[in-house]
Amino acid sequence: MLLVDGLNAGYEEVQVLWDINLAVREGEIVSIIGANGAGKTTTLKSIVGLIIPFKGIIRFNGNDITGLPVHEAVRRGISLVPEGRHLFPKMTILENLRMGGYTINGDRYENLLERVFQIFPILKERKDQLALTLSGGEQQMLAIARGLMSDPKILMLDEPSLGLAPKIVKRVMKVVSEIREGGVAILLVEQNAKISLEISDRGYVLETGRIVLEGTSKELLRNEHVKKAYLGLM
Ligand SMILES: Nc1ncnc2c1ncn2[C@@H]1O[C@H](COP(=O)(O)OP(=O)(O)O)[C@@H](O)[C@H]1O
Ligand SMILES: [Mg+2]
Repeated sequence: MLLVDGLNAGYEEVQVLWDINLAVREGEIVSIIGANGAGKTTTLKSIVGLIIPFKGIIRFNGNDITGLPVHEAVRRGISLVPEGRHLFPKMTILENLRMGGYTINGDRYENLLERVFQIFPILKERKDQLALTLSGGEQQMLAIARGLMSDPKILMLDEPSLGLAPKIVKRVMKVVSEIREGGVAILLVEQNAKISLEISDRGYVLETGRIVLEGTSKELLRNEHVKKAYLGLM
């Protein structure tokens, strides 16, 4: 479904990513794990069109979408839940969700909203509250819910576990699995390798802008390098 082929990207003359190849198939959860500064966010930004690659091709459902504007990627079914959530704090939950689904109207919008409220009942209960009144975990849930309101075929999550207590992280990951059960593919970017590999089918390890390892999540969880560098195991 999503194919990244020979991606080189960065900021002005600073190259951050070198020959990145990765794929996400329909219905998969795929992880990209890597330390702070490895280039995870830059990879997602390249896919969604927030930055234009130096080189390489991004394909989605067979079409070349390299360098297309963000709204075009969103229209085709790619949604990014950004690192740090970037909610609209002084808008209500319902208004935040509306922002996520601004391209969608009528019955289709209402159906999506109903589906999202089924996954996140707490957001339905609090739909008229300002986003700033939510706890950190609830804000992450709202960011994910907003990402779903554009009716994506693939949802890309940039460090959803960041700053959340372990119990809340578990809840977020459960929701991510549920979303996949509903037919949406997931590209999950995390520093927290353990929780990320535990829910994903496959994964890629990104180090200083290069993919150094890839495999099924099971393989990566028992890989010696992954154990030492990412799981804190000797
Ligand atoms: N807007 C930017 N301008 C210049 N350099 C950046 C910018 N954003 C990120 N970088 C650099 O790119 C590298 C990778 O960053 P990033 O993709 O955010 O990594 P990660 O998400 O894995 O922490 C880092 O060295 C970072 O300093
Ligand atoms: Mg990042």
